[in-house]
Amino acid sequence: MFDPIEVIKELVSHPSVSTDPSYEAGMQGTRDVLTKLLDGMSLKVEVVPTDRHPVILAKRTGPDSWPHVVIYGHYDVQPPDPLDEWNSPAFEPTMKGTRLYGRGVADNKGPMMAHVTAVGRLLEDNPEFPLRITFLIEGEEEIGSPSLPAVLESHGESLRGDFILLSDTLNPSEDQVAITTGLRGMVSFEIEVSGPNRDVHSGMYGGSIYNPLQALTEICASLHHPDGRINVPGFYDDVITPEQWEKDEVAKLPVTDLEFVQAVGVDKIFTANNRTAMEGVRYEPTLEINGIGGGYQGPGDKTIIAKKGFAKITCRLVANQDPDDIQKKVFKTIRERCPEHVKLTINAFHNGLCYSVVPPGKPNTPANQNPHLARAFAACDKAVEVAFGIPPLYTREGGSIPIIGSLNKALGMDCLMLGLGTGENNLHSPNESFDLSMLEKGISVSKSILKAVAYP
Ligand code: BES
Ligand code: MN
Repeated sequence: MFDPIEVIKELVSHPSVSTDPSYEAGMQGTRDVLTKLLDGMSLKVEVVPTDRHPVILAKRTGPDSWPHVVIYGHYDVQPPDPLDEWNSPAFEPTMKGTRLYGRGVADNKGPMMAHVTAVGRLLEDNPEFPLRITFLIEGEEEIGSPSLPAVLESHGESLRGDFILLSDTLNPSEDQVAITTGLRGMVSFEIEVSGPNRDVHSGMYGGSIYNPLQALTEICASLHHPDGRINVPGFYDDVITPEQWEKDEVAKLPVTDLEFVQAVGVDKIFTANNRTAMEGVRYEPTLEINGIGGGYQGPGDKTIIAKKGFAKITCRLVANQDPDDIQKKVFKTIRERCPEHVKLTINAFHNGLCYSVVPPGKPNTPANQNPHLARAFAACDKAVEVAFGIPPLYTREGGSIPIIGSLNKALGMDCLMLGLGTGENNLHSPNESFDLSMLEKGISVSKSILKAVAYP
C-alpha cells in the first residue's frame, strides 16, 4: 500500500490552480498522481474531458444489491497569492511539527486522501468488500464547477449512489469534529461602471461629468443597510430560520464569537439580524464586495477622473434561497441605482445551490431518509467518538460546494460531510496547512462508515 503522507506531499507539489490557465501542467500532474493511485487500487479509472478541467471518475463496480457510495473530492486549488506572505514556498510541501504546509494541502488534497486511503486499505484487507464505490474528483470546484452540468448529462446515471461522502468541510478545532449539515449557495458577478472614453484631467472635467468611481462606490454602498442587512428588495423573502436543535448545536461550538474574529485580527463582531457570529456565518445570507478597483493605483497622487471602475461581488445564500431568483433581484437593484450618466455592465460568473441535510433522529429528519445514509451517520457519530474522544457536533458551514446541491437536485442523493480541516488551516490564505494528526483519525472514521454501509 502507498503511504498517504507521501502521496499528499506529491499532490501538493503539483500546482493545480484551476482559475489560471498558466497552471495547466500542475492540473495535469495532479491528475496523473491520482489516476495512477486509483488505478493501483484496482478501480476502473476514467478521466472525463470537459471544456476546462477533466473530472476523474474511479469506480469499484459490483452487484446491484451492494450499496453504492459516491466519494467526492476536488484536485484543484486556489491561487497561492500573495506569494510574499508565505513562510515556505506554496508548492513545496513543508513539515513544521505535525503540520504540513502548502497550497491545497487542506483544501482538499490532504482530507481527500483520508477517504482514498480508507478505501485502499479496506480493499487490500478484503478484496471481496461488498460495496460499490465511485470516486468523483473534480478539477473545477474552486471556480464554481462550470463543467458540471455537462458531466451530469453524460455520466449522471453512473453517479447515482445511495449517498455522497466528502471531506471538504471544516471542524471548529482539531479536537472537536463537526459533521457539516449545510453549505451556503452562491451568486457571483462583477460590475463595471464607465464614463469618459479615457482617463481625463480632473481640473478640466471635474464639475462637468459624473465620476464613474463615485457612481460605482455609491452603488456598492447602497447594497447594505447600516445594521448589516442587505438592502435589496426581496432578498430575504425565501430564507427559512434554522431549527432549535441546530441553534443548540451551534451554541456548543468551542469557540466564542470574540475568539473567532480575533483570530483574524478583528476586535468586534458585526452581524445582521441579531445573529451571533457563529450563527451569522452559517444561517445568514451575505453580499460581499470581494474586490474593487479603477483609477490611479500607483504611488503618490494623480488628479484624474478615471474612465472606469469595477467591483467583484459574491452573495452567499442560505437554505431555500434560489440563486437565479437572487441574481435577478440583485441585478435589477444595481441597474435601478446606477446614475443615468454612466454606463453599467454586469457580468454574471457562476451561481451555486445551497445544500442542507438533517441527520437521523432529529425532529425534522425526513421519514424517507435513505437507510444507508442513516447508517453512515450513526457509524460516523460512533467512530468520531472513538477516534477523537468526544462525539461530533452537527452544524452547517458558511462555505459553498455547489456541486453537492446540484447532485442532490439531479440525482436525489444526500451527503455526509466529514471534514478534516479547521479554521487554522488558512484555506484560500497564505500559509495553508493541514495537521497530519487528523489523517489517521480521519481514515479510521471513513473506514468505519464504509464498513457500516457494506455490512448492515
Ligand atoms: N472547501 C471549500 C468549501 C468550504 C469552506 C466548506 C469552508 C466549509 C467551510 C471549497 O473548496 C470552497 O472554497 N468553495 C468555494 C466555492 C466557490 C468558488 C463556488 C467557496 O466556498 O468559496
Ligand atoms: Mn474545498
